[in-house]
Amino acid sequence: MAKHLYIKTFGCQMNERDSEIIEQLLAQSSYVLVTEPESADLILINTCSIRDKAEQKVYSLLGQLAPLKKKNKQLKIGVLGCVAQQESENIVKRAPFVDLVIGTQQIYRIPEMLDRLAGNVTVREIATDLAGSFVIPAFQKLLKGNPPSPASGEFRKFVTIMQGCNNYCSYCVVPSTRGREVSRSVADILEEVQLLVEQGVKEVTLLGQNVNSYGQTNAVADSPVTFAGLLHKVAKVPGLERLRFTTSNPKDLSEELIRCFAEIDILCPHFHLPVQSGSNHILQRMNRKYTREQYLEKIEGLRRVRPDIALATDIIVGFPGESDEDFAQTMDLLETVRFHGSFSFKYSDRPNTRSADFTDKVPEQIKKERLQQFQSRQDQISLEQNKKYVDTVQTVMVESRDNEKLKGRTGTNHIVHFPCQINHHPGETVAVKITRAGMHSLQGELAEKI
Ligand code: 5AD
Ligand code: SF4
Repeated sequence: MAKHLYIKTFGCQMNERDSEIIEQLLAQSSYVLVTEPESADLILINTCSIRDKAEQKVYSLLGQLAPLKKKNKQLKIGVLGCVAQQESENIVKRAPFVDLVIGTQQIYRIPEMLDRLAGNVTVREIATDLAGSFVIPAFQKLLKGNPPSPASGEFRKFVTIMQGCNNYCSYCVVPSTRGREVSRSVADILEEVQLLVEQGVKEVTLLGQNVNSYGQTNAVADSPVTFAGLLHKVAKVPGLERLRFTTSNPKDLSEELIRCFAEIDILCPHFHLPVQSGSNHILQRMNRKYTREQYLEKIEGLRRVRPDIALATDIIVGFPGESDEDFAQTMDLLETVRFHGSFSFKYSDRPNTRSADFTDKVPEQIKKERLQQFQSRQDQISLEQNKKYVDTVQTVMVESRDNEKLKGRTGTNHIVHFPCQINHHPGETVAVKITRAGMHSLQGELAEKI
């Protein structure tokens, strides 16, 4: 008989992909997804701890779910992901009704753990070892013979190419929550992309904390391949129409990778390259291992080989020791690059990070003002950048349909809304003439094919 799984995912694309893998693994044990926790036999919370108050949010959500256990004695509740990794046994101390605590590298063991819990209300499973290089091949083995199957209409997929991070940016929890960097084998990656394309997937995003250092720490003996080399191989999978990747550390962005934007036609002209700060003093305290000048050089290189490339970034304001002058440097970098978009955050202390111990913290009010100033200037620039697309014809991949209104995405990662009477389906590519630009999306009408 089918059992009901409710899974709530916070955080990054890595977590979303992990949740998908869990859904697939559990589908083999007859679990079907439900959208309400009230009707579930198993509730899983896949957590993120990247920024402020992450732990409190998880505990408060658990508090809300606790009464469901009273109603349904068979219900199991599990906490996964980065907060689970970090808090481990503290979770069951604070929320004793939790049955499973599963760290970032243990998710492939969920089915086996659930078997042990079945029908038993007294046992509990906690697994938060950072297991290292065996994890990714283990996933692969479990999924063999039961390939990732995108539900009908799912034409964009993430493919994890590596896990963990070796960079130790001073503000970041990831090395402690996801462990050391391990790259997956080229053969496994190609096999997964091929399977996905056979099932109708048109666009793949290669996923890792720092994809630019792919191949430096391999999970299995494999002939050495750089990230650029991997992109060339994946791009040759017949039937794949669009290729993207995320996320990149600028320090590892090579000339070879920059050239890929000229050499690989299915590589989308969009680059998310987190800079974090425009001040060399702050970049050094963040342990980012590049300077503002080196970052700008790489941006110039990208624009030289691919003038239509759309650039996005991440910014942290109010890092410890950030003076008015340091922040002015960040604003100046924004004016220089004119990013198409950015994600910006107030600095927050995170557990097990070096910057948590820095003593020269920036007051909350100043962080708030700087964030506001950055975001309002970014909004103006995004609008100005987007207006440049008006009257151009863009190739748009359809994502969804609401009656006669379609939503799609350009190679530059802009969302486009356009009316359409013809039955275009998700995954189909159409030409759209852009008629209006907003801050976060474009509007257009169907045009002749480019
Ligand atoms: N405080 C604020 N923002 C952070 N980020 C990562 N750690 C912190 C922190 N301690 C931001 C960075 C990163 C994005 C995913 O989250 O900008 O690129
Ligand atoms: Fe959140 Fe980072 Fe963990 Fe992703 S890797 S879930 S962003 S803490």
